[in-house]
Amino acid sequence: MSENNVTTNVNDRSQHGMWSSKMLFVLAAVGSAVGLGNIWKFPYMMGEQGGGAFFLIYLFCIALIGFPVMAAEILIGREGRMSPVNSVLKLAREHNRSKSWSLMGWTGVFGGVLILSFYAVVAGWITFYIWRLFSGEFTGADATEVNEKWGNFVGDPVQVFLWFTGFMAVTIFFVARGVNKGLELAIRICMPLLFILLVVMLVYGFLQGGLMDALRFMFHFDFSAMKWDTPISAMGHAFFTLSIGMGAIMAYGAYMPREGSVKSAVGIIVVIDTLVAILAGLAIFSIVFAMNLDPAAGPSLLFKTAPVAFGNLPLGAIFGGLFFLFVGFAAFTSAISLTEPAIAYFVERFNTNRVVVAIVIGLITWLLGILSVLSTNVLANLHLFRDWTFLDFFDKFTTYLVLPVVGLVIAVFVGWFLPWERVRKGLDLSDDTMWQIWIICIRYVAPIAIFTVFAFTLYQEVVTPLLRMLFGE
Ligand code: TRP
Repeated sequence: MSENNVTTNVNDRSQHGMWSSKMLFVLAAVGSAVGLGNIWKFPYMMGEQGGGAFFLIYLFCIALIGFPVMAAEILIGREGRMSPVNSVLKLAREHNRSKSWSLMGWTGVFGGVLILSFYAVVAGWITFYIWRLFSGEFTGADATEVNEKWGNFVGDPVQVFLWFTGFMAVTIFFVARGVNKGLELAIRICMPLLFILLVVMLVYGFLQGGLMDALRFMFHFDFSAMKWDTPISAMGHAFFTLSIGMGAIMAYGAYMPREGSVKSAVGIIVVIDTLVAILAGLAIFSIVFAMNLDPAAGPSLLFKTAPVAFGNLPLGAIFGGLFFLFVGFAAFTSAISLTEPAIAYFVERFNTNRVVVAIVIGLITWLLGILSVLSTNVLANLHLFRDWTFLDFFDKFTTYLVLPVVGLVIAVFVGWFLPWERVRKGLDLSDDTMWQIWIICIRYVAPIAIFTVFAFTLYQEVVTPLLRMLFGE
């Protein structure tokens, strides 16, 4: 036992349960962080938007914004020991701050439901593809055939709906069972398998011989490939991939035992999340390049390009199936974290049973998810904004707007409105230099960086088109 291992007293527990150990907290948070963001989004974003150049901006966002904001979230959760709404409320009360701060907890309630509604649709596609690859359906298939199969699948609302419903049902089943018997159980089963599968895929990718090309594709340094919105996509993605900016990690932090150190937990989570994103990218691109395929397929890299590659490589059906299984596990351990802010809150609010709340939240998410189910078929041509379907809209609205804005609010609240002694003690930052770096990041760097990226985007997105409209080109 370490010397700072304080015995948890009764008041220092959450009514929803506690992670069995600090290690389980870290695993759960890694499970939340590592998800479709790492595998479905990151590799193609990086390949498309300048490779190493994009990665550099992303690393800055992770280090200067992601790290301090995640620590702040865990801190609020662990000090409050309740749902995000009530944890913030409790801290605000204790330090005579406005009750309105708890609004940031509310975004977790809505944001989580909104994210899960489209996330589970994509996860449903993944689930179908696990089965599809294992069945050997793609063996020997060419690009035209694979595209056609993809088009037929997402074009069929009933099929997509059924896979989405299945994924949602499993998610809600585990969530309803509670922190220890549900979330922890899922994490204990999935996380080891996730890491094993990642290694298996890396070795398989390496053996196919495309690793050097994959490295070149991901890390080539091309500033000219960056678009004006690269900074905002890198920043939004930093929030999304770390599961920060809406209270999911805050909710998880509420169940974190006191003896764990927040700073080392955050360090481990951030490093593993980034590592998995890079390694998963290398695994996919190795396979894609081994077959001389064009990697620039955007979001459909997984569904159009990968199946062609697996279909034509030795033992491709088995390894392709295992690859999608890997993605499925990653998606699942993220999905179970998305409803926690809402569920914890309503359990506290109505003092009811978790199962009932989980079912109601699940039903709401499921109904909302139907809009994303229909986004690739019946409603494919319905665009709310730009050329975005509902699925795109929910994704971009939460990733680029909600998460960074709430992240900004969290940083300001912890940096400026909570007493330093409490924050320092809660984060266990006894080292002076580390504390100073942290406080500078949370007070100045993170808020200013988020604000600047927004100002820049607003300028590009709103001011420039307006000026152009008014004064011509
Ligand atoms: N981080 C997950 C991913 O990369 C998604 C996710 C889970 C998430 N929980 C979240 C994103 C909370 C934002 C907020 O796929």
